[in-house]
Amino acid sequence: MLEYIDSHAHYDDEQFDSDRDEVLHRVHEGGVRYIVNMGCNLERSRLSVEYAEKYPFVYAAVGIHPEDVEGTPENYLEQLKNWADNPKVVAIGEIGLDYHYEGYNADLQKRIFEEQLDLADRLGLPVVIHSRDATGDTMDILRSRGKVRGVMHCFSGSAETARQVLDLGMNISFTGVLTFKNARKALEALAVVPLERLMLETDCPYMAPEPNRGKRCDSGMIVHIINKIAEVKGVTPEAVAKQTMENTLRLFDRIK
Ligand code: NI
Repeated sequence: MLEYIDSHAHYDDEQFDSDRDEVLHRVHEGGVRYIVNMGCNLERSRLSVEYAEKYPFVYAAVGIHPEDVEGTPENYLEQLKNWADNPKVVAIGEIGLDYHYEGYNADLQKRIFEEQLDLADRLGLPVVIHSRDATGDTMDILRSRGKVRGVMHCFSGSAETARQVLDLGMNISFTGVLTFKNARKALEALAVVPLERLMLETDCPYMAPEPNRGKRCDSGMIVHIINKIAEVKGVTPEAVAKQTMENTLRLFDRIK
């Protein structure tokens, strides 16, 4: 049986309200050794920590997602820091920039992003970065910091951007997008990422890989992503699962 880590999931999403416990146990028994549940705002970060305390195989990230920056209270950094004292909190995430929808507040997003990058530095924690339609500003901010200990999640950029992210010292993870029919750009980017710098994620309940596209995703569907990576890299699925496990445990070094 393949054993792997889902490094980025959202089990706090209401799509799991009716059967969260059942799904988590099923995917764990099916080979998902660890799951890292992301934080997107304070309430969802709190839930992330709650699940991490409830399930031995679940770990948490805490943070404010760029689409959730409006209305973030003044003392949010203090709250994130308090949660990060918990050894099951392994990263600050997901944080970053998202200019996809009209009406976004770029200045506020950048401020909250940079404050959380600083917090992660102070705490010695890695970061999980979300960037959508904001490559220029995201890369400017990251480059201004020299090296960055973290992962660029749900990578959607070009092969050139992938190289720049790797140069910063970061890992890259892809979602089920790799399996979609229009995945040409993602596959070109995957081609330049060495296996030693790759991580696996579902971003569930979103981004279900083929043949489940459009359905509710869960961590068990990661096998389709593993198979795609194995095919592109010309290695076995076992090799992909093993190497990405090592990469993830090295970055999220509080997991044990
Ligand atoms: Ni996510």
